Amino acid sequence: MNILVYGAGVIGSVYAARLQEAGHRVSLLARGQRAVSLRTHGIQLENAANGRKTTTQVSIVERLAPTDSYDVVLVTVRFDQLHAVLPILAANRQVSTLLFLLSNPVGMQQFALLDPQRIVLGFPAIGGVRKEDVVHYITLRQMPTMLGEVDGRVTPRLRQLAAIFKQAGFTARLSPDMQTWLQTHAITDIGIISATIMAGKKSALLARSRHNVAQLVQAIREGLLALRALGTPLTPFSLTLLFLWLPRWFTVTLMQALLRSRLSTLGIDPHLGDDIGEYNQMAQEIMERLRTSPRTTPTLNRLLVSLEQPTH
Ligand SMILES: NC(=O)c1ccc[n+]([C@@H]2O[C@H](COP(=O)([O-])OP(=O)(O)OC[C@H]3O[C@@H](n4cnc5c(N)ncnc54)[C@H](OP(=O)(O)O)[C@@H]3O)[C@@H](O)[C@H]2O)c1
Repeated sequence: MNILVYGAGVIGSVYAARLQEAGHRVSLLARGQRAVSLRTHGIQLENAANGRKTTTQVSIVERLAPTDSYDVVLVTVRFDQLHAVLPILAANRQVSTLLFLLSNPVGMQQFALLDPQRIVLGFPAIGGVRKEDVVHYITLRQMPTMLGEVDGRVTPRLRQLAAIFKQAGFTARLSPDMQTWLQTHAITDIGIISATIMAGKKSALLARSRHNVAQLVQAIREGLLALRALGTPLTPFSLTLLFLWLPRWFTVTLMQALLRSRLSTLGIDPHLGDDIGEYNQMAQEIMERLRTSPRTTPTLNRLLVSLEQPTH
């Protein structure tokens, strides 16, 4: 397959390298100094689970022209960066499949510029951070690459995308309701991020306080119940089970273990520096939606204050 990965950060770099190594023709769209570094050194990855370092050469491009043709474009910019990319994707009519592998609490609302037939929704299967030129990452079997058509159908292209990800070493799972999956996931994510910021920006510090983790569990529970009260059936089932059905003490213990894991030290802590624009924007979108719910979210509201950034 001829694939363009749009955005050369953590997620884009790992997917581009893995897909290229699986035999696909991959181009990676990068900008500024990152493009220079990738042309000079290739994509440098370190798997934090086993310390394995790899370097992969892919073709580096700096723009997507209206006439450029690829089988699929994987969009891996952040949610708060997407608005600048959408007009460029809309101007290109050659690529029939645009797969968005990013946090997205608003579903299709933001894609008005695009033909919905071109869109596949997804979520990446890794946690990681870029330090200088090297991306340090971790993959977990229980965290698959999620994929779904906008209308929930299982189409040949969806099967083909799942197959190429599996061939590249990722687990992949199809969701019949990816828009809700992304919203449910965003509520959980934002709860964890805001509670971690309140605990001093270290997930291990948050894990130490059972009281604070219990507050986090309560906040996520409130968010999910408020979403459900708006008529949105919750998915995935695993999150409903964890936050709504299982005994609270069990969920708190499990969350403490998760917050002490490598996934948290790589997938949460390094992203809590000066630029928390993506989380801030996600929180605003989520709260705008949940404000219309008949169920209130007092604990979640208290946590989300930590994401409010001073305006410059
Ligand atoms: N990293 C994780 O652990 C993780 C885990 C699960 C989900 N996610 C989600 O996956 C998405 C991507 O995350 P990430 O960690 O890969 O973010 P990231 O490291 O910040 O990467 C985003 C990349 O996109 C580039 N970009 C942004 N706008 C662009 C534009 N207009 N033109 C060209 N390049 C552009 C950025 O370039 P600049 O650096 O020049 O801005 C950056 O290289 C996010 O929604 C995130 O929430 C991440």
